[in-house]
Amino acid sequence: MLQGKTAIVTGGGQGIGKAIALLFARNGARVVVSDVVRETAEKVAEEIRQSGAESVAVACDVSKADQCETLMKAACDRFGSIDILVNNAGVTRDNLLMRMKEEDWDFVLSINLKGVFNCCKSVARGMMKQRSGRIINISSVVGLMGNAGQVNYSASKAGVIGITKTLAKEFGSRGINVNAIAPGFIQTAMTDKLSEESRQQLVQFIPFQMLGSADDVANAALFLACPLSSYITGEVIRVDGGMAM
Ligand SMILES: NC(=O)c1ccc[n+]([C@@H]2O[C@H](COP(=O)([O-])OP(=O)(O)OC[C@H]3O[C@@H](n4cnc5c(N)ncnc54)[C@H](O)[C@@H]3O)[C@@H](O)[C@H]2O)c1
Repeated sequence: MLQGKTAIVTGGGQGIGKAIALLFARNGARVVVSDVVRETAEKVAEEIRQSGAESVAVACDVSKADQCETLMKAACDRFGSIDILVNNAGVTRDNLLMRMKEEDWDFVLSINLKGVFNCCKSVARGMMKQRSGRIINISSVVGLMGNAGQVNYSASKAGVIGITKTLAKEFGSRGINVNAIAPGFIQTAMTDKLSEESRQQLVQFIPFQMLGSADDVANAALFLACPLSSYITGEVIRVDGGMAM
């Protein structure tokens, strides 16, 4: 479905990003696996090459604009152009507002929100010139619903939806689709941090009564990256087992 396309996945070293990178490669894409942790990105790129597809790892901290510029340049130098950008890198630093430190707010916003701005800005010129492209932003149901103890994270993920809709309007006439995915409660290192008690409590609110997998999110990303979704832009697809209805 992605034959001949080049995709960049930020935060691609593990979890949802890794699942997206592997699925895109299985569907014919050349994948630039990027992560702030170079070793995990290298591992995923190596796994893709072992399977016979093309892949390269590029270390990048998405909160740093210059590193995002370097990432896009490295991808273009290697593969010629960029067709798909998946803004997946994300972090949490949870606390109730009254206990949250300013640095925890800044840290989460700088990666989850400014990181998306940085990467979109770096990739946009090339996509506008070629008059085609797909940008897929990984938000969260928490950006739609809010969540006690996650004021920084929910603000960042709501902001990602704002960026998505704005860029869909700015780039529509240039043939660039910009969409977001709002995953619910997905089994990854990020949710492994939760206690068994909070896990049980959360599961009660999911009609499917279970966590989703990284592959569930990757499947939605593949849909948004491929021609099946050509006429969809500015959309937010929930992948949450019905949690945020
Ligand atoms: N797991 C869930 O339940 C869930 C739910 C909703 C949304 N999400 C979102 O999905 C995305 C992936 O989450 P995950 O569960 O796979 O988490 P994860 O912690 O397993 O993976 C996140 C990846 O991002 C990388 N990263 C962190 N800071 C970075 C930076 N500054 N620059 C580049 N890369 C950086 C990490 O090294 C890691 O490889 C995140 O945006 C997250 O907010 C996850």
